[in-house]
Amino acid sequence: MNMLMPKVPGLPIIGHSIPFQRNALQFTSDKQKKYGDVFEISLLNEKFIVMLTPESTKEIFLDKDDNFSSKEGWAVVLGKPFENGLMLRDFEDHKYHRSLLQDSFRHEAIHGYLEIIQPIIHNWVKNLNANKSFDLYKSVKQLMFDISLSLFFLDVQKDESERLNNLFMDSIASATSAIRWPLPFTKMKKGLQAREYLLQYFQEKSGLVSQDSKKTLFAELVNTNKGDANLNNLEIAEHMIFLLLAAHDTTTITLTNSIYNLSKNKDYAHDLFNEANEVNHLDVSSLKNGIVAESIFKEAMRYYPPVPFSVRQVVRDTQIEKYNITKDSYLTISPLLLHHDDRYWNDPQKFDPYRFIDPAYINPAYFPFAGGAHTCIGKFFASYLFKNVIYKYIQSIQSPQIDHVLDIRPTPIPHPVKDVKVLI
Ligand code: HEM
Repeated sequence: MNMLMPKVPGLPIIGHSIPFQRNALQFTSDKQKKYGDVFEISLLNEKFIVMLTPESTKEIFLDKDDNFSSKEGWAVVLGKPFENGLMLRDFEDHKYHRSLLQDSFRHEAIHGYLEIIQPIIHNWVKNLNANKSFDLYKSVKQLMFDISLSLFFLDVQKDESERLNNLFMDSIASATSAIRWPLPFTKMKKGLQAREYLLQYFQEKSGLVSQDSKKTLFAELVNTNKGDANLNNLEIAEHMIFLLLAAHDTTTITLTNSIYNLSKNKDYAHDLFNEANEVNHLDVSSLKNGIVAESIFKEAMRYYPPVPFSVRQVVRDTQIEKYNITKDSYLTISPLLLHHDDRYWNDPQKFDPYRFIDPAYINPAYFPFAGGAHTCIGKFFASYLFKNVIYKYIQSIQSPQIDHVLDIRPTPIPHPVKDVKVLI
């Protein structure tokens, strides 16, 4: 039987764009309370169907019949600056590109990346200790930027790094800008300009990568794609720009939130310290066994999923959970709402890594890395990177004190309302 979908009344043309843009979490959870788990809203004259059950979320991510376009869905959110990135490709074309990127995420390649980033992490904790205090989010963001410079670019010289820093920041800032048109002086305009420079940079540098180059992610991607049937330099450049975005704010907020909570709970700080001394930080198999760090990582992504909402466009009329869904509608699903729904979690507002301490524990309402064909390609690397930073941090920073509450706003992507200072 077909169910009737509740439609949330809104203003003509702009619909619910303003309250959604202002605070997507508040808006969506208010409507969920009033209309239930499935309802229709309108954003910028387009129909958006919000589906907030684990079952519909799984069905949409898995997309067994190729009904849901990630490309057209994410194009609305990310737009031109990230055109042709992996998430902005669909079906056969996506599968082909993903298979050509996959090689850069094999264990041996990740091992090489960990070797490259270890001295950077080492320097980071050394400077934190020397300074005796630091702004948490700002400092982690800078660390992630330095890591990205070494993995995603080629032999960056000191005088180049500031320019690349600015381009990189302009590029990722455009992803969350409220104004989606490239009007003068907007983040979107700057993002598009940054894209042009970065496209040129990566295409030029691709030609300089050889088998002897340092085994960075960029070098791996170029070297595995040499030859006619593989990615060309423009495609590699487009993937690199998307990878920069996908890797940066996601790991930054997960680390920030974890470090903050470590300072509040001495028990798992203690367990993490012991684990850090047992695990071999460069060995992927050993890192896999780091279950305390893994639990903190999982809980940080449960609490503030770095991708709080996902979006797809429907490519043909279909049905989900007894609702008829028409072609061209947009679907919105929300790991953020599911991760805080007390129908699926005990005490969801409590930050408690031990809920994940059994590696076999599975919660059907948990989607930090999405699922199906577009499952995060960097999810294992993200976990090993996270562990390398958090282990080094706990081994090096004695008794960190944070006096203020870290107030994180979870949308459009999680970010602190105000940074906190850590005193060592
Ligand atoms: C805590 C860290 C991270 C989280 C929580 C995360 C989360 C996600 C999610 C939810 C998606 C899919 C969204 C959707 O299907 O709508 C995704 C896709 C992706 N992520 Fe991550 N990510 C993280 C780190 C990384 C890193 C470190 C990299 C690369 C170095 C990366 C590269 C990508 C790429 C390329 C895609 C597109 C995959 C595809 O479309 O096939 N991510 N990520």
